Amino acid sequence: MVQLFNMSHDYETGFDAALAALRSGGLVAVPTETVYGLGANATDDNAVEKIFQIKGRPGFNPLIAHVSGLQMAERYGVFDALSRSLAAAFWPGPLTLVVELKPHTNIASAVCAGLPTIALRQPRGTMAELASHLGAPIAAPSANTSGRLSPTRANHVLDDLGDGVDVVLDGGSCMIGVESTIIKVQEGNPTLLREGGIAAEDIEAFLGIPLLQGTDKPEVEAPGMLLAHYAPKLPIRLNAKSTKPDEALLAFGTTTSAGPKVRNLSVTGNIDEAARNLFAMLKELDATGATSIAVHPIPETGLGAAINDRLKRAAQSSENGS
Ligand code: TXA
Ligand code: MG
Repeated sequence: MVQLFNMSHDYETGFDAALAALRSGGLVAVPTETVYGLGANATDDNAVEKIFQIKGRPGFNPLIAHVSGLQMAERYGVFDALSRSLAAAFWPGPLTLVVELKPHTNIASAVCAGLPTIALRQPRGTMAELASHLGAPIAAPSANTSGRLSPTRANHVLDDLGDGVDVVLDGGSCMIGVESTIIKVQEGNPTLLREGGIAAEDIEAFLGIPLLQGTDKPEVEAPGMLLAHYAPKLPIRLNAKSTKPDEALLAFGTTTSAGPKVRNLSVTGNIDEAARNLFAMLKELDATGATSIAVHPIPETGLGAAINDRLKRAAQSSENGS
């Protein structure tokens, strides 16, 4: 049976239950500023294995290890001046750093899926606190069935994964709404592997140099970045200027369209608000019984790049019928 706690009423009970579950090899769903994560003790092979099982995630797709801070991160990853400065500037926050894995750590081998690197992130809030009390990183992918939309509310997790999770902490809607930005730091070079909750241009402004772009062989570089991902059930039609009969609409900015099959990411055209609403609104439209979902054009600026990345993958998945 899943134990559900509302974090605004029951913070301490929920926190203690999640910590107990992590200590005994269980799975917890915990909100982060980006999306809800499905967490296990990253040093417990059996617990990490459960994540792959319940998500139906292929074993070649590595997980992010969530840490309490840079000190814990440096027990597992090799940090240089560049990765350290990125962590100092953007942690806690929606930035994941992929760095060389240290030899002979106690990290469960499935976390890195056999790669010589490890993905590390200090999120804001509860997940990092839990890692601190556990004294170990928490391996956590987004708390959804592999290939499906990421959850930004506790009920998304319950609907998708239900009883497979031991403890669900309900912290309301996630503040950012798209997953973390992933940067790989290797030989002093920063490479953008995934657009996400921190705009690439903000990271470039901080570094004063452009980010390299990840290889176009994502199945090698970041397996989860395969194009067919983030699949709603309905087909998606991008950059739509108008809707067809029986089509649902995901709008952006002012529109005259209205009705039960219309959602607006941001009436005022605010890109951060659009990111927060993206996954929840896609799920709602997915359940309307429409023939497909038309999506207005979204500007590429700021979090728009991450939004368009997820929408492209969603459209690609539905074309593939996956
Ligand atoms: O915001 C987020 O990042 C959320 C929250 C829960 O932290 N997590 C998340 O995890 O989105 P997930 O598993 O859905 O996506 C993690 C991505 C995958 O694309 C995976 O392939 C990539 O990170 N990844 C993990 N370790 C890697 C590594 N060593 N090298 C390259 N990519 C890696
Ligand atoms: Mg995911």
